[in-house]
Amino acid sequence: MTEADLESHRSDVAAELRADVREGLTAAQKWLPPKWFYDAEGSKLFEEITALPEYYPTRSEREVLAGRAAEIAELTGAHTLVELGSGSSEKTRLLLDALTAHGTLESFVPMDVSESALAEAATAISADYPKLEVRGVVGDFTRHLQLLPGTSPRVVAFLGGTIGNFLPGERAEFLHSVREVLDEGEWLLLGTDLVKDRDTLERAYDDSAGVTAAFNRNVLRVINAELDADFDPDDFDHVAYWNADQEWIEMRLRARRPLQVRIPGADLVVPFAEGEHIRTEVSAKFRAAGVEAELGAAGFALERWWTDSRQRFGVSLARSVRA
Ligand code: SAH
Ligand code: TRP
Repeated sequence: MTEADLESHRSDVAAELRADVREGLTAAQKWLPPKWFYDAEGSKLFEEITALPEYYPTRSEREVLAGRAAEIAELTGAHTLVELGSGSSEKTRLLLDALTAHGTLESFVPMDVSESALAEAATAISADYPKLEVRGVVGDFTRHLQLLPGTSPRVVAFLGGTIGNFLPGERAEFLHSVREVLDEGEWLLLGTDLVKDRDTLERAYDDSAGVTAAFNRNVLRVINAELDADFDPDDFDHVAYWNADQEWIEMRLRARRPLQVRIPGADLVVPFAEGEHIRTEVSAKFRAAGVEAELGAAGFALERWWTDSRQRFGVSLARSVRA
């Protein structure tokens, strides 16, 4: 079996986390950036989430990709498939199958902050696609996009609804930065979860087996491990709340009692009142017209828009049109 080629652009993880913790946990409304969920344990828990009966996005997106992969290969004739926030790259195999059958694909470039998830996925894919050049990049897709290798035409896939984990301003900035590294005529394949009823949404982020709750609390374990903090994850309730005005799900960790948490690695003692929460993530839900408008504002022309049969999840294929 060939070892997959992995390069890392993460140097001082603890320093990065320290800066984020100092900013987020000293704010009036406490918050943490979502990328810190994903250490090896977090990536494992996320994979469990994707198989939960309540978590429909993975299955809905897979249905779209299964039906449209051949068309995506035909339209793009991609030589390189880049995948941002690739995780296990499980659904991506549908694209790899179609693009290799089409005969144009030369390389696959998965990028993720989670080294363990990336190494596992890249190794499995290079074993299963022996002719494909697999070049995994451990990095942050908000910072390291200009380092992505590959020959044109490229398709950048951003799946799983991960774009919804940005706040609106960050989202616009991210789309611009993707457009900036692409040549005119290259492609973005974007997965967006769609607005739907509160009940379906809140259950998708608060499953009955408690896996999502464990995933959310995992960020506290990451801070304990990296910064010597003394969070007891059991002091916090997992809360998933549909904010109908913003059209996003908010994930929170809510203190069950008054607390003081010591975080020596960040030189902090953080007080919590009973009921006070940390916002750990938003997961924005989209409408077709909004996706098209946001893509257009970033320099992408929407070529195709597909949904699954229950119209729960949208996948768009967009072409870069101007810098
Ligand atoms: N694409 C997969 C995984 C989605 S979960 C799917 O559709 O199932 C989000 C993934 O993005 C995780 O693997 C996480 O490690 C990664 N991620 C989160 N923030 C990131 C960042 N800033 N840079 C790179 N990867 C990130
Ligand atoms: N990108 C995923 C989503 O927005 C991440 C996710 C799923 C998540 N379930 C979660 C993040 C629970 C925090 C808590 O659907």
